[in-house]
Amino acid sequence: MNAVVRLNLDVEASEITSSLRIKRAAASLRELSKKFDRIVILSHRGRPNGVDKKLSLKPVVVELELKARRKISFLDGPLDKCLEQVLGKKGVYVLENTRFFAGENKNSASLARSFASFGDIFINDDFATAHRSQASNVGITSFLTSLQGPIVKEELEALKKIITKPARPFTLIVGGSKMSNKLPVIKNLLSKSDHVLLGGGVGNTALKADGYNVMDSIFEKDLLDEAEKLIGDPKVIYPSDFRVSKRQILDIGPNTSSAYVDIISASKTVVWAGPVGKFEKKPFSKGTESVARAIASTDCFSIAGGGETTSAIIAFGLEKKFSFLSTGGGAMLEFLAGKKLPALEALRIKYR
Ligand code: 3PG
Ligand code: MG
Repeated sequence: MNAVVRLNLDVEASEITSSLRIKRAAASLRELSKKFDRIVILSHRGRPNGVDKKLSLKPVVVELELKARRKISFLDGPLDKCLEQVLGKKGVYVLENTRFFAGENKNSASLARSFASFGDIFINDDFATAHRSQASNVGITSFLTSLQGPIVKEELEALKKIITKPARPFTLIVGGSKMSNKLPVIKNLLSKSDHVLLGGGVGNTALKADGYNVMDSIFEKDLLDEAEKLIGDPKVIYPSDFRVSKRQILDIGPNTSSAYVDIISASKTVVWAGPVGKFEKKPFSKGTESVARAIASTDCFSIAGGGETTSAIIAFGLEKKFSFLSTGGGAMLEFLAGKKLPALEALRIKYR
């Protein structure tokens, strides 16, 4: 049997060797390649407008091959020519960036049919793109029997625990640059949580809403009314001191850090999305590192997600101390906000 497998190889050039997504994709591939004669992998990378060689999957495939310990052939060029190269053959193949093909983002049925012609069954193992409706993850399910893969299954098991009945006290930590994409999650989880700790640009928006002079720091002007309502809830805590450079708040300060650490240490469930400071630039990694270390040393069910947050955790060497790291950024946020993810719905509709 031959499978078409959707994986997430959407990683920045600087992250290729350390990426959680590639590590997970490699593990999935090792498992799936025991079951199928031929696997053709579909993935996008970045947000190209047509072909953009900087966003080729070629360098990512080299890393995937190393980590999966499987020989992988790269398929480039028109789809009919790629198909000729695999028909009648066994092995593992990766097709060039799905977003190089016209119609991918519009969920084109004809592109989906072409993707489907590469196998007899479709396995979706890309949780991180499940909030997008594309030919390679939604359209294709109209043409092939379609199932969840192991990564998607694991993601859903972990994230459903948060949605259903998180052990209390439950602490939600929200950082990163924007409040707009995190607000639906905060709203959805507020009644289940005991504390919501803010940092990063999200914390700055809360501070600005409270009348604090945030100088030249990033914050979202359009969100000030929402932020004001949010900080009216005593569960929502925002920074009380900061590390500042060139008129910009770049990290939470030591008092905030120690208050956050105390709350985390008393928690039974922690969900973390978004670094609380500019962690990639020393010394502004201190707040994010203390949050990461507090979660790692607390006996709780802990989930972190989003590229920056998981990269920070991996860089601090704390990956194994978390219950689960999600490969999803936007997809994790939408799932935790209670939204339905189209690529998972497409699988469910068929198999309910
Ligand atoms: C992500 O990076 O969150 C996923 O790969 C989806 O990518 P997109 O936001 O470019 O659709
Ligand atoms: Mg991306």
